[in-house]
Amino acid sequence: MESEATELFKSKFALKNIPKRVFIFPITALILVILLPLFTHLNQSSSKFLFTTTVVETTSCNLFSGKWVPYQKQPYYNESCPFITEKQNCLLHGRPDTDFLKWRWKPNDCELPMFDAIQFFKLVKGKSMAFVGDSIGRNQMESLLCLLNSVAHPEDITTKYVSNIEDLTYFKWWFYADYNFTITMLWSPFLVKSSKSYIYNSSFYQPENLYLDEPDTAWTSRIENFDYVIFSGGQWFFRPFIFYENGSVVGCQKCNNSIELNFYGYKKAYQTALKTMTNLKRFKGLAFLVTHSPNHFENGAWNEGGGCNRTQPFIKDQEWEVHPYGLEILHQIQFEEFSIAKKVAGENGLRLGLIDITDAMLMRPDGHPNKYGHALEKNVSLINDCVHWCMPGPVDTINEIFLYLMRMV
Ligand SMILES: *[C@@H]1O[C@H](CO)[C@@H](O)[C@H](O)[C@H]1NC(C)=O
Ligand SMILES: *[C@@H]1O[C@H](CO)[C@@H](O)[C@H](O)[C@H]1NC(C)=O
Ligand SMILES: *[C@@H]1O[C@H](CO)[C@@H](O)[C@H](O)[C@H]1NC(C)=O
Ligand SMILES: *[C@@H]1O[C@H](CO)[C@@H](O)[C@H](O)[C@H]1NC(C)=O
Ligand SMILES: *[C@@H]1O[C@H](CO)[C@@H](O)[C@H](O)[C@H]1NC(C)=O
Ligand SMILES: *[C@@H]1O[C@H](CO)[C@@H](O)[C@H](O)[C@H]1NC(C)=O
Ligand SMILES: *[C@@H]1O[C@H](CO)[C@@H](O)[C@H](O)[C@H]1NC(C)=O
Repeated sequence: MESEATELFKSKFALKNIPKRVFIFPITALILVILLPLFTHLNQSSSKFLFTTTVVETTSCNLFSGKWVPYQKQPYYNESCPFITEKQNCLLHGRPDTDFLKWRWKPNDCELPMFDAIQFFKLVKGKSMAFVGDSIGRNQMESLLCLLNSVAHPEDITTKYVSNIEDLTYFKWWFYADYNFTITMLWSPFLVKSSKSYIYNSSFYQPENLYLDEPDTAWTSRIENFDYVIFSGGQWFFRPFIFYENGSVVGCQKCNNSIELNFYGYKKAYQTALKTMTNLKRFKGLAFLVTHSPNHFENGAWNEGGGCNRTQPFIKDQEWEVHPYGLEILHQIQFEEFSIAKKVAGENGLRLGLIDITDAMLMRPDGHPNKYGHALEKNVSLINDCVHWCMPGPVDTINEIFLYLMRMV
């Protein structure tokens, strides 16, 4: 069981020039994905619950409330894009249906423009961008690299910045010489300091110490030099935790025979991260928070043979058929902490935006690798990946929204 989970969720960077350095995916994220077919908000439209706001003031349209509409043109790129992590390359692994590529996100009150790589480079020329978070953030970053691949190719300069095996495994620096533009993955799955027991023991059940009032230096020590910083994270908050504040145990999750989630840890981690970011002295960049990316296990949890074999997006009310446990609460916490941080950011002359993708991605049970996230010729019993997103796929929409918002501010 453990080794199977490890097998599925390990992954390497797509390019071969950093050999044999393995990503450990958030296997712990998947524990206890309980399916609640009829969630408490059944009678409300989900949009009503999730999206009561527009986010960056300069945006006149709420990009995050809308639906997926049919779109017949080819996706931006195909399975030959060299930046796709192998386990998200669904086409390469023989996913038979391609209808999941034939949808575009349509906000209710406006059009979301296509991603324009030339326009993107105009904005970022001479600048730098950091993704702070977990493998879902990395999924978004790699989508961005593929969206840019028709215009320019980056050089891997990771070894200029980090040298130990752990950092080389988890971090990444790409440099676009033509545009003097750097794009970076700063690995920080909890955003705050942790005991990193996941590095030494990939068991799903190994508890992690989380220091809720101490931001993770993986990003605090680095982001002040970046022009754009994109925070995300959430999937790793489902594992067993012991929470610390001010050096003392203040609580735990999935401990003492309890299987409950303790959302206190999630809230506090976001509070600490956003507070730290808005108060960094030298950071003058543009920051975004990407909201929780939902998973879509059906007919069982990740470790019970659950999967996600749908081939169509949900239409509005169908969303509630597949609904990850705790999603509303996670989203609400992010939203509240974002709103608080945004005020402080304003006072400190910082710009902070929300990329509120939860609702749009909730409608895409068809966008995950499922069993096409790993080599089928390997004789391993399958654990389906209903967490990450196929590339190409709906994850590219997150970057369409991202570029739109970058232009707005
Ligand atoms: C994939 O895209 C590349 C680059 O655009 C192109 O050269 C190649 O023919 C495409 N492959 C397939 C299978 O469509
Ligand atoms: C490249 O961009 C960096 C900032 O990201 C700047 O310090 C540097 O001077 C630029 N180099 C050139 C050659 O424009
Ligand atoms: C990893 O953690 C699990 C769960 O706590 C434990 O049962 C196992 O013995 C640990 N393995 C190693 C190698 O420490
Ligand atoms: C942290 O602990 C120290 C020593 O126990 C105490 O003096 C201090 O007030 C505590 N700080 C907070 C913020 O609780
Ligand atoms: C587990 O329960 C015991 C007894 O109630 C308590 O003392 C301990 O602090 C709990 N563990 C954690 C990590 O909260
Ligand atoms: C999807 O999975 C369900 C449950 O395992 C199964 O009943 C159904 O036949 C599958 N559909 C397809 C198209 O494979
Ligand atoms: C794969 O594993 C199954 C069960 O362990 C075994 O019966 C089968 O022969 C194996 N197939 C290959 C191609 O190794």
